[in-house]
Amino acid sequence: MSKLLSSAAVAQYNRDGFYFPVPVLSAEEAAHFRRRLEQHEAIAGKPLQGNWRHKSHLLFTWADELVHHPKILDAIEDVIGPDILCWTTNFFIKEANNPGFVSWHQDATYWGLDPNDVITAWVALTDVTPENGYMEFLPGSHKTDQLPHVDTFHKDNLLSRGQEIAVEVDKTKTVGIPLRAGEMSLHHIKLVHGSEPNRSNDRRIGLAIRYIPTYVRQTKVRDSAVLVRGTDRFHHFDYEPRPQADLDERALAAHDDAVQRQVKALYQGTSKQEFRA
Ligand code: NI
Repeated sequence: MSKLLSSAAVAQYNRDGFYFPVPVLSAEEAAHFRRRLEQHEAIAGKPLQGNWRHKSHLLFTWADELVHHPKILDAIEDVIGPDILCWTTNFFIKEANNPGFVSWHQDATYWGLDPNDVITAWVALTDVTPENGYMEFLPGSHKTDQLPHVDTFHKDNLLSRGQEIAVEVDKTKTVGIPLRAGEMSLHHIKLVHGSEPNRSNDRRIGLAIRYIPTYVRQTKVRDSAVLVRGTDRFHHFDYEPRPQADLDERALAAHDDAVQRQVKALYQGTSKQEFRA
Protein backbone atom coordinates (compact mmCIF):
# COMPACT_ATOMS: atom_id res chain seq x y z
CA MET A 1 0.00 0.00 0.00
CA SER A 2 1.40 3.36 -0.94
CA LYS A 3 1.35 6.16 1.63
CA LEU A 4 1.53 9.27 -0.50
CA LEU A 5 2.83 8.63 -4.01
CA SER A 6 0.77 6.87 -6.67
CA SER A 7 2.22 3.68 -8.13
CA ALA A 8 2.63 5.62 -11.40
CA ALA A 9 4.74 8.20 -9.55
CA VAL A 10 6.97 5.50 -8.06
CA ALA A 11 7.29 3.85 -11.49
CA GLN A 12 8.26 7.21 -12.97
CA TYR A 13 10.92 7.68 -10.25
CA ASN A 14 12.35 4.25 -11.01
CA ARG A 15 12.36 4.90 -14.76
CA ASP A 16 13.65 8.50 -14.79
CA GLY A 17 15.60 8.67 -11.52
CA PHE A 18 13.46 11.55 -10.23
CA TYR A 19 9.93 12.66 -9.53
CA PHE A 20 8.38 16.10 -8.91
CA PRO A 21 6.55 18.05 -7.67
CA VAL A 22 5.42 16.54 -4.40
CA PRO A 23 3.54 19.08 -2.26
CA VAL A 24 4.61 18.57 1.37
CA LEU A 25 4.30 21.95 3.11
CA SER A 26 1.77 24.73 2.74
CA ALA A 27 3.11 28.09 1.56
CA GLU A 28 2.71 29.33 5.16
CA GLU A 29 4.71 26.40 6.57
CA ALA A 30 7.47 26.94 4.03
CA ALA A 31 7.58 30.64 4.96
CA HIS A 32 7.77 29.62 8.63
CA PHE A 33 10.84 27.44 8.04
CA ARG A 34 12.48 30.15 5.97
CA ARG A 35 11.79 32.62 8.80
CA ARG A 36 13.40 30.32 11.37
CA LEU A 37 16.53 30.05 9.21
CA GLU A 38 16.65 33.80 8.67
CA GLN A 39 16.08 34.58 12.35
CA HIS A 40 19.22 32.58 13.07
CA GLU A 41 21.11 34.38 10.30
CA ALA A 42 19.98 37.78 11.60
CA ILE A 43 21.32 36.96 15.08
CA ALA A 44 24.54 35.49 13.68
CA GLY A 45 24.96 38.51 11.39
CA LYS A 46 25.80 36.35 8.38
CA PRO A 47 24.26 33.72 6.11
CA LEU A 48 24.40 30.10 7.20
CA GLN A 49 27.88 29.00 6.14
CA GLY A 50 30.49 26.24 6.10
CA ASN A 51 29.85 23.20 8.27
CA TRP A 52 26.55 24.57 9.54
CA ARG A 53 24.99 24.25 6.08
CA HIS A 54 25.42 20.49 6.45
CA LYS A 55 23.59 18.24 8.89
CA SER A 56 21.79 21.38 10.07
CA HIS A 57 19.03 19.13 11.44
CA LEU A 58 21.41 18.26 14.31
CA LEU A 59 21.70 21.97 15.22
CA PHE A 60 18.19 23.37 14.85
CA THR A 61 14.92 21.94 16.16
CA TRP A 62 13.02 23.31 13.15
CA ALA A 63 15.34 21.50 10.71
CA ASP A 64 14.96 18.33 12.80
CA GLU A 65 11.20 18.78 12.47
CA LEU A 66 11.57 18.96 8.67
CA VAL A 67 13.57 15.72 8.34
CA HIS A 68 10.88 13.98 10.45
CA HIS A 69 7.97 15.54 8.53
CA PRO A 70 5.36 12.77 8.07
CA LYS A 71 4.46 13.75 4.51
CA ILE A 72 8.08 13.79 3.39
CA LEU A 73 8.65 10.42 5.06
CA ASP A 74 5.49 8.94 3.52
CA ALA A 75 6.81 9.74 0.04
CA ILE A 76 10.26 8.38 0.90
CA GLU A 77 8.75 5.19 2.32
CA ASP A 78 6.87 4.65 -0.94
CA VAL A 79 10.22 4.49 -2.75
CA ILE A 80 12.69 2.90 -0.30
CA GLY A 81 10.49 1.06 2.20
CA PRO A 82 9.57 1.57 5.86
CA ASP A 83 12.97 1.46 7.65
CA ILE A 84 14.53 4.84 7.03
CA LEU A 85 17.65 6.70 8.16
CA CYS A 86 18.30 10.36 7.50
CA TRP A 87 21.96 10.29 6.47
CA THR A 88 22.49 14.01 5.99
CA THR A 89 21.03 17.36 5.02
CA ASN A 90 22.58 20.07 2.88
CA PHE A 91 21.25 23.60 2.52
CA PHE A 92 21.57 24.82 -1.03
CA ILE A 93 21.14 28.54 -0.63
CA LYS A 94 21.76 30.77 -3.61
CA GLU A 95 21.90 34.42 -2.70
CA ALA A 96 20.18 36.98 -4.97
CA ASN A 97 22.19 37.89 -8.07
CA ASN A 98 25.06 35.63 -7.08
CA PRO A 99 27.41 33.55 -9.28
CA GLY A 100 27.04 30.42 -7.08
CA PHE A 101 26.20 27.37 -9.19
CA VAL A 102 26.24 23.57 -9.05
CA SER A 103 28.21 21.77 -11.77
CA TRP A 104 26.87 18.61 -13.45
CA HIS A 105 27.49 15.72 -11.09
CA GLN A 106 26.27 12.46 -9.62
CA ASP A 107 25.82 12.54 -5.84
CA ALA A 108 27.20 9.00 -5.57
CA THR A 109 30.70 10.11 -6.55
CA TYR A 110 32.18 10.70 -3.07
CA TRP A 111 29.52 9.60 -0.63
CA GLY A 112 30.77 6.06 0.00
CA LEU A 113 27.28 4.59 0.34
CA ASP A 114 26.50 1.09 -0.90
CA PRO A 115 24.19 -0.01 -2.45
CA ASN A 116 22.89 2.99 -4.38
CA ASP A 117 19.41 3.02 -2.84
CA VAL A 118 19.80 6.60 -1.69
CA ILE A 119 17.14 9.20 -2.29
CA THR A 120 17.20 12.97 -1.93
CA ALA A 121 14.13 14.91 -0.89
CA TRP A 122 14.89 18.44 -2.09
CA VAL A 123 12.48 20.69 -0.22
CA ALA A 124 11.91 24.19 -1.59
CA LEU A 125 11.62 26.90 1.07
CA THR A 126 11.25 29.56 -1.64
CA ASP A 127 9.81 29.30 -5.12
CA VAL A 128 12.40 27.75 -7.41
CA THR A 129 12.47 28.94 -11.01
CA PRO A 130 14.66 28.95 -14.13
CA GLU A 131 15.67 32.51 -13.23
CA ASN A 132 16.82 31.73 -9.68
CA GLY A 133 18.75 28.60 -10.58
CA TYR A 134 16.46 25.58 -10.41
CA MET A 135 17.96 22.08 -10.62
CA GLU A 136 18.23 20.38 -13.99
CA PHE A 137 18.15 16.61 -14.32
CA LEU A 138 19.24 14.20 -17.05
CA PRO A 139 16.38 11.66 -17.17
CA GLY A 140 17.40 7.99 -16.90
CA SER A 141 21.03 8.81 -16.10
CA HIS A 142 20.75 6.99 -12.74
CA LYS A 143 20.88 3.77 -14.77
CA THR A 144 24.26 4.57 -16.32
CA ASP A 145 27.54 3.64 -14.65
CA GLN A 146 29.27 5.99 -12.28
CA LEU A 147 30.80 8.62 -14.60
CA PRO A 148 34.32 10.00 -14.14
CA HIS A 149 34.40 13.35 -12.29
CA VAL A 150 37.14 15.94 -11.91
CA ASP A 151 37.58 18.12 -8.79
CA THR A 152 37.74 21.81 -9.67
CA PHE A 153 37.31 23.40 -6.19
CA HIS A 154 35.91 26.36 -8.20
CA LYS A 155 35.11 29.16 -5.74
CA ASP A 156 31.53 29.65 -6.93
CA ASN A 157 30.70 25.96 -7.06
CA LEU A 158 28.41 24.96 -4.18
CA LEU A 159 29.58 21.32 -4.18
CA SER A 160 32.12 20.05 -1.64
CA ARG A 161 34.96 19.53 -4.11
CA GLY A 162 33.60 21.50 -7.06
CA GLN A 163 33.36 18.10 -8.67
CA GLU A 164 32.02 17.93 -12.19
CA ILE A 165 31.40 15.24 -14.75
CA ALA A 166 34.42 14.92 -17.02
CA VAL A 167 32.35 14.49 -20.18
CA GLU A 168 29.91 16.86 -21.89
CA VAL A 169 26.26 16.65 -20.74
CA ASP A 170 23.77 16.93 -23.62
CA LYS A 171 21.70 19.98 -22.62
CA THR A 172 18.99 19.15 -25.17
CA LYS A 173 18.09 16.12 -23.02
CA THR A 174 17.98 17.77 -19.58
CA VAL A 175 14.81 18.78 -17.74
CA GLY A 176 14.38 21.80 -15.44
CA ILE A 177 12.70 21.31 -12.07
CA PRO A 178 10.58 24.30 -11.04
CA LEU A 179 9.04 24.09 -7.56
CA ARG A 180 6.76 26.27 -5.48
CA ALA A 181 7.78 26.96 -1.90
CA GLY A 182 6.65 23.91 0.09
CA GLU A 183 7.01 21.43 -2.78
CA MET A 184 9.82 18.91 -3.09
CA SER A 185 11.48 16.90 -5.81
CA LEU A 186 12.92 13.42 -5.33
CA HIS A 187 16.11 12.21 -7.02
CA HIS A 188 18.33 9.15 -7.10
CA ILE A 189 21.97 9.21 -5.93
CA LYS A 190 23.26 8.45 -9.44
CA LEU A 191 21.09 10.92 -11.35
CA VAL A 192 23.12 13.47 -13.33
CA HIS A 193 22.10 16.96 -12.20
CA GLY A 194 23.29 20.53 -11.82
CA SER A 195 22.00 24.10 -11.55
CA GLU A 196 22.89 27.60 -12.73
CA PRO A 197 23.33 30.82 -10.73
CA ASN A 198 20.53 32.83 -9.17
CA ARG A 199 19.82 35.82 -11.41
CA SER A 200 16.80 37.02 -9.41
CA ASN A 201 16.48 39.62 -6.66
CA ASP A 202 15.60 37.16 -3.88
CA ARG A 203 17.40 34.22 -2.31
CA ARG A 204 16.69 30.71 -3.52
CA ILE A 205 16.59 28.27 -0.60
CA GLY A 206 16.35 24.49 -0.74
CA LEU A 207 17.07 21.85 1.87
CA ALA A 208 18.35 18.58 0.40
CA ILE A 209 17.51 15.73 2.78
CA ARG A 210 19.33 12.44 2.04
CA TYR A 211 17.50 9.31 3.11
CA ILE A 212 18.65 5.69 3.03
CA PRO A 213 17.08 2.37 3.90
CA THR A 214 18.73 0.86 6.99
CA TYR A 215 20.50 -1.85 4.98
CA VAL A 216 22.74 0.68 3.18
CA ARG A 217 26.38 0.78 4.34
CA GLN A 218 28.99 3.50 4.54
CA THR A 219 32.16 2.05 3.01
CA LYS A 220 34.63 4.82 3.90
CA VAL A 221 34.27 5.61 7.62
CA ARG A 222 32.21 4.67 10.66
CA ASP A 223 29.35 7.04 9.93
CA SER A 224 26.31 8.29 11.81
CA ALA A 225 22.67 9.02 10.98
CA VAL A 226 19.21 9.54 12.51
CA LEU A 227 16.64 6.73 12.46
CA VAL A 228 13.55 8.64 11.32
CA ARG A 229 11.10 5.81 10.73
CA GLY A 230 10.76 2.05 11.26
CA THR A 231 13.32 -0.28 12.78
CA ASP A 232 17.01 -0.82 12.15
CA ARG A 233 18.11 -4.45 12.07
CA PHE A 234 21.51 -3.66 10.57
CA HIS A 235 23.15 -1.02 12.80
CA HIS A 236 25.52 0.13 10.07
CA PHE A 237 25.36 3.66 11.48
CA ASP A 238 25.78 5.17 14.95
CA TYR A 239 22.76 7.20 16.00
CA GLU A 240 22.90 10.95 16.23
CA PRO A 241 20.89 12.71 18.97
CA ARG A 242 18.07 15.07 18.00
CA PRO A 243 18.54 18.68 19.14
CA GLN A 244 16.56 19.62 22.25
CA ALA A 245 17.15 23.33 21.73
CA ASP A 246 18.69 25.27 18.85
CA LEU A 247 22.47 25.30 19.04
CA ASP A 248 22.65 24.07 22.61
CA GLU A 249 25.90 22.55 23.82
CA ARG A 250 24.88 18.96 23.22
CA ALA A 251 23.60 19.75 19.72
CA LEU A 252 26.83 21.56 18.82
CA ALA A 253 28.94 18.62 20.02
CA ALA A 254 26.79 16.05 18.20
CA HIS A 255 26.87 18.09 15.02
CA ASP A 256 30.62 18.52 15.19
CA ASP A 257 31.18 14.78 15.64
CA ALA A 258 28.84 13.90 12.77
CA VAL A 259 30.34 16.46 10.40
CA GLN A 260 33.89 15.32 11.13
CA ARG A 261 32.95 11.82 10.02
CA GLN A 262 31.29 13.12 6.89
CA VAL A 263 34.16 15.40 5.97
CA LYS A 264 36.50 12.44 6.35
CA ALA A 265 34.42 10.45 3.87
CA LEU A 266 33.69 13.23 1.36
CA TYR A 267 37.15 14.78 1.28
CA GLN A 268 39.08 11.51 1.36
CA GLY A 269 42.31 11.94 -0.60
CA THR A 270 42.45 15.73 -0.06
CA SER A 271 43.78 17.84 2.83
CA LYS A 272 40.37 19.41 3.64
CA GLN A 273 39.30 19.37 7.31
CA GLU A 274 35.92 21.06 6.95
CA PHE A 275 33.22 21.94 4.45
CA ARG A 276 33.94 24.89 2.24
CA ALA A 277 32.30 28.23 3.20
NI1 NI B 1 23.72 16.75 -6.00
